[in-house]
Amino acid sequence: MPKAPTELADEVSEQVKDKKSYLAVIDRLNKASVEKHWEAYADIPWDDPEYQVDKNDPRWKLPPFDKLGQTEWYRSQPEEIQAQIGLWRVATAMKIGLQFENLLKRGLLNYAYRLPNGRPEFRYVYHETTEECHHGMMFQEFVNRTKMPIRGMPRSLSLIAQAAPWIPLVSTEMFFVFVLGGEDPIDYVQRKSLKGGHIKHPLEETIMKIHIAEEARHISFARHYLRRRVPRMPRYRRFALSLLTPLIIGLMARIMLSPPGSMIRAFRIPDDVVREVYVDNPETAALTRDSVARTRELCTDLGMMNPISRRLWRAMGIWDEPKARAKGNT
Ligand SMILES: [Fe+2]
Ligand SMILES: [Fe+2]
Repeated sequence: MPKAPTELADEVSEQVKDKKSYLAVIDRLNKASVEKHWEAYADIPWDDPEYQVDKNDPRWKLPPFDKLGQTEWYRSQPEEIQAQIGLWRVATAMKIGLQFENLLKRGLLNYAYRLPNGRPEFRYVYHETTEECHHGMMFQEFVNRTKMPIRGMPRSLSLIAQAAPWIPLVSTEMFFVFVLGGEDPIDYVQRKSLKGGHIKHPLEETIMKIHIAEEARHISFARHYLRRRVPRMPRYRRFALSLLTPLIIGLMARIMLSPPGSMIRAFRIPDDVVREVYVDNPETAALTRDSVARTRELCTDLGMMNPISRRLWRAMGIWDEPKARAKGNT
């Protein structure tokens, strides 16, 4: 049935309003990237004596709330080993972070390569790529300074991950789901640690503050992009995206938050301790679920929850019943 003229006019004005606010967000993010950005080798005092990394420094010890830190096994280790385990974990998170961001940058550039002239996303994607280059440099510099044999993603996973930069060629919406899948859990954990006062070393604190400030913009862009694009997708594509999203988000959250296998091997952490802390631990499961809460809520708002997708969110261990939210959470 054709739409009544007023209904049609309402829809058109709604779309114009929607497009205007989307463009305003990109403008705001561009401006913020110009006014507030950090460079890895200009804004971090690497040579300051206070910023030096000593693997036996007790400030690297796991904080008291940490599940591994609470085990008898950890507490019975010598002080230096406790510090080394803490540092190993921080450095591994940075290494995995920089590998993820490497894939992300290549994907952003693949996306930008095909953008026609005049598209507002182009400039922001270049700002984001520039910022991620500095994140990669600061993370790698930190890892180098630990002088520990830090490894990133397991090799098999790293091989599969090489497909990620090509996702934008299949679906840009799916690509930005992948972006949120990696950025949201890291951001959640970094904010939590910083807020809880658990970061004791000034170098780690500086890196984390820079990262949180710039990631807020990247996350905001990805969310606004999805808010604008997903409702316009053909129904069958949106349905396919709703099924792939929990698989991507669940896998990414695990990659970002799971304990490094190399650390378990290097410090010979016993199997039963690993199981107790990481496998059969309801608090660890809750942390994984909570770290993707914002993306889960976004997917709900975008009509990407249906009986099958919800089942997949549950199967991936990242489902939680929607909670009442404060307004203005974009
Ligand atoms: Fe980053
Ligand atoms: Fe980012």
